[in-house]
Order: sequence, then C-alpha cells, then structure tokens
Amino acid sequence: MIIAPSILSADFGNLEKSIEQVKSAQWLHVDVMDGHFVPNISIGPVVIKGLRAYTDQILDTHLMISDPAKYALEFIKAGSDRITFHIEATSDPIAVINLIREHGAKVGLSVKPNTEVSAIAELIPLIDQVLVMSVEPGFGGQEFMTNSLDKIKELDRLRKKNNIHLLIVVDGGINEKTASLCKEAGADVLVAGSYIFNSNDPLARMERLK
Ligand code: DX5
Ligand code: ZN
Repeated sequence: MIIAPSILSADFGNLEKSIEQVKSAQWLHVDVMDGHFVPNISIGPVVIKGLRAYTDQILDTHLMISDPAKYALEFIKAGSDRITFHIEATSDPIAVINLIREHGAKVGLSVKPNTEVSAIAELIPLIDQVLVMSVEPGFGGQEFMTNSLDKIKELDRLRKKNNIHLLIVVDGGINEKTASLCKEAGADVLVAGSYIFNSNDPLARMERLK
C-alpha cells in the first residue's frame, strides 16, 4: 500500500518541516484548486517547482481546476510526475490524457462522489491511475463517504477483467479505519491529509496507515 501524504494539511508557514516529517513517503499528493471547479483556492506551479528542487519523492498532482488542458503542461514543467484531472472538468478527456502523456507524466482521472465509474470506464486503458474522491473535493478534514467503496470494487473488477494495469487511489477522509476498508475493496494508494499532518507525529500516523 502506497501512502501519499496530502500537503494541503501541511504547515505552509514551514513547509520544509512538514515535508521532512514525511520524507519516507514514496509519493507526495499536491492539491491544486482554482476557486472555480471547487470552492477553494490552494497552490500553483510555483509551489511544485519549489518542492521539486527539495525532494525526489513522486509529486502526485491533483488538479481540481476547470480547464486542465490549459494548465497541465505548466505543472509538468514545474516537476509533477503524475497529473490527475477531473472527468467533470473537461469535454475532451482524451485530448488531456494525450497532452499529459506526450509530455512525459503519468496520467490520472478523478471522479467526484456523485460521478459513476461508468463515466470513465472506456478511458481506463488509456490512463495510469484513477483517483476516487471519497469526499467532495475542495477541503481537507471531511468525513469519508462510504459509496466510494463500491467504486473501488468496481474499478478492481474492471481492471482484472480486462487485464489492465491501473492504480486505484482513494482521496478524502482516510484514517486507520477507512484505510482498511479501502484496502479490502482493492485500493493501492491512499491519500491522507489531516490524519497525517494534524498530529504531533506525522511519521507515526503514516506508518500506522501502512
Ligand atoms: C480534497 C483533497 C484531498 C485532501 C484530503 O479536495 O483532494 O487531497 O487533502 O484531506 P483529508 O485526508 O483531510 O480528507
Ligand atoms: Zn487530493
């Protein structure tokens, strides 16, 4: 199980300290919000660039923005290794997938809690990961929505049936209890923000999830 700490809940006044605390994590999850696709604004490529200079960890960038085709390249240039965008944010997902891939990053597609797996089923052979949102995107610290478990199971069935290599990533409300539910359902990567960083010992929280 890969644990991807979400820096949305890190200390942005002392980001170096937060990143040091989770430096043993393979992935860092970076939430990009535009105040339009979601009702919150977070960070842009300049922060990715700063992280890239500081760490070799895989930068897993979650674009919660309205026009992923317009900005994806900037995030890749800044140093993102994996770019996930929302199926709800574009009318031409294949163009965005191709754009990301052509520029050397891995591609992910995300579904909000009210979007069914069927909305992305045909695109699964073209991507590297699906990010199942288990909260409404926009904020950390929300409660896990259990309908995401059925989506994880459905994705797991789909990839097995079609013999596709696909990572199933779950994002939102992850703690030790919901983590094991996700694992049982078939998840490979768990994104966790508040559970890890709103604690005196982020490393211990990470180990516990693992
Ligand atoms: C929410 C973000 C998440 C967020 C998760 O829109 O995509 O990555 O940081 O936070 P927690 O783990 O606190 O639910
Ligand atoms: Zn996220």
